[in-house]
Amino acid sequence: MALTGAGISAESGIPTFRGAGGLWRNFRAEDLATPQAFARDPKLVWEWYDWRRVKIAEAVPNAAHRALAAHEGLTLITQNVDGLHDLAGSRDVLKIHGDIWTRRCTQCGHETHDRVAPLPAYPPLCPKCGGIQRPGVVWFGEGLPGDVWDAAEDAARRARVLLVIGTSAQVYPAAGLIPLAKRAGAKIVEVNIERSAASEMADEFHQGPASEIVPGLLASL
Ligand code: OAD
Ligand code: ZN
Repeated sequence: MALTGAGISAESGIPTFRGAGGLWRNFRAEDLATPQAFARDPKLVWEWYDWRRVKIAEAVPNAAHRALAAHEGLTLITQNVDGLHDLAGSRDVLKIHGDIWTRRCTQCGHETHDRVAPLPAYPPLCPKCGGIQRPGVVWFGEGLPGDVWDAAEDAARRARVLLVIGTSAQVYPAAGLIPLAKRAGAKIVEVNIERSAASEMADEFHQGPASEIVPGLLASL
């Protein structure tokens, strides 16, 4: 099983959240990534998400995404909303923080999925009922999608090896999958350019960029 975070997409040109140049160093999460922010100013929140969609639309998967997609029988859990694992060919990715390419109606719940960026107007409206759509991502203060999270916990309990790639392991409940897998007997193998909150728990720590390390590591498993 693998758990990925923003670091795996860093070399595809997508900014991380907490490192140097990270999004949360330049923007206040509470102004942009909370239900309260959206209720206050949906246009502003959409401007920010659309800016990210435009940036992400230009990005392509790197060798780390590709190696994970090529590895048979691997359960892939990602905190990323960028869709690069899908583009690399991974199937059944457990996207515990949602998907930036999905929009969900705040009135009727209808979801649309496309790669339109930039969007023609903010906020985008539901094709079914005309209600305001929101980004299909998990915001601070919100619960994770229940079915996806249950599947992620199940996978963590069953994992023989958990690869932890490019995450600061600071955001819960996502980061809790690591001790869960460890307690259930998994070997924890971490890949990161620097030590993270998960490193204490790691049985192996491989320091360096994901695209350089992950392909060889998977080949050796
Ligand atoms: P962070 O930005 O918190 O952490 C990124 C991690 O990637 C750091 O530990 C970096 O050292 C590491 N890193 C950077 N470049 C790398 C590279 N080339 N190769 C390997 N590692 C590298 O991102 P996440 O841990 O994913 O939430 O953040 C978790 C959540 O916080 C995100 O999903 C997002 C954010 O708020 C939501 O969208 C709900
Ligand atoms: Zn609707």
